[in-house]
Amino acid sequence: MRPTKTNGHFETLVVDDEPTNGVSGRTEVLYDTEASEALCARAPIGLLAELTHRCPLQCSYCSNPLELERVNKELTTAEWVSVMQQAGAMGILQVHLSGGEPTARKDLEEIVSAASKAGLYTNLITAAVTLTRPRLEELAKRGLDHVQISFQDVNEENAEHISAYPEGLRKKLEVAHWVTELGLPLTINAPIHRQNIHNVPRYIELAVELGAQRLEIAHVQYYGWAFLNRAALIPTYKQTMESIEFVERERERLKGVLTIDMVVPDYYAKRPKPCMGGWGKGFINITPSGKVLPCHAAETIKHLKFDNVKDRKLLDIWLNSDAFNAFRGTEWMKEPCCSCAFREIDFGGCRCQAMAITGDARNTDPACALSPYHGEMVALAHSEAGRPPKPFIYRNPRNATNAPKPEQRPLVPAE
Ligand code: SF4
Ligand code: FES
Repeated sequence: MRPTKTNGHFETLVVDDEPTNGVSGRTEVLYDTEASEALCARAPIGLLAELTHRCPLQCSYCSNPLELERVNKELTTAEWVSVMQQAGAMGILQVHLSGGEPTARKDLEEIVSAASKAGLYTNLITAAVTLTRPRLEELAKRGLDHVQISFQDVNEENAEHISAYPEGLRKKLEVAHWVTELGLPLTINAPIHRQNIHNVPRYIELAVELGAQRLEIAHVQYYGWAFLNRAALIPTYKQTMESIEFVERERERLKGVLTIDMVVPDYYAKRPKPCMGGWGKGFINITPSGKVLPCHAAETIKHLKFDNVKDRKLLDIWLNSDAFNAFRGTEWMKEPCCSCAFREIDFGGCRCQAMAITGDARNTDPACALSPYHGEMVALAHSEAGRPPKPFIYRNPRNATNAPKPEQRPLVPAE
């Protein structure tokens, strides 16, 4: 099984595998009431469990929402255990334990045990700075399958500037060594932007030195805090293209040694990414308080209402909820998507990006050259990247309170 690719620590998940063949297992434990109609006959492949929004780091590129959920709203251990059992019974294959920083949950071991017993492939997405060796050993004993560590930079001083956390790099290197010593597969996540793009070559060297199986060169996607900080993060077109070409060459050179995944920035693209592999097609995201979302940024689409695992079974939400059915298939599409040959390939791109940039989630993702907003989006990228970077607005509760509301932020008015 190929782990789902992630675009960064807490960032966009690009589902590139097909969904699984169907709902399987003990469906009677999932339903109180029978789903009225099997609107989606196949189970999702992946579940992103955002266990908490607490995090010791304050990265400005974080894709968490600006409205961070409080600790007293988080699901209990028993509720997360139930989520894992339901996910396993639905036929979901992978669970990504993320956040915030998932190790901030004292019950992470119990959640990993439950996920493992439910037959899920468990991937811990961690900043690693608070992880101890005994805890990692215990997690491995409980069935943890894979560890993904984000590196804000490969230079300590710059990593500190990006994350507002001292000596994080030293600690991450230590934990990465423990991961490989324990025989766990390791992925290095490299969230790339204008303030560390010059270090892409060193990231690749480091991943090889650490014995990582996989390196994700994940150009930052502009959701959540990254959208707010775009003018501090977006690289120039030239920097972007050079880094992409370099990575392509390194991929060839390192075949059989290191798998390098790359997520390229949307703002310079001509065609959009098939975000989430299609809305409600292969992926579920659960927030710390239990809201079930089709993607991590879905709450920016304000007219959608999201069900909670505390009130409704996961399978019922997946099959029947209004939010998951809002953009399934192609019925909802407007022009140019609805008559386009690519509509079943990229699904019109990203709903949340369409919302953020155009103010209407049904519009074509402006990353597409056929979108009437595409030119403005590219011009914006060139303009922001061509000026000195703005200071970071770090991801923390104080800045969350002061951040502008989404309706104050669209680039251009709705069509
Ligand atoms: Fe994809 Fe829509 Fe652009 Fe066609 S018009 S390529 S379906 S985003
Ligand atoms: Fe792309 Fe929400 S982040 S659909």
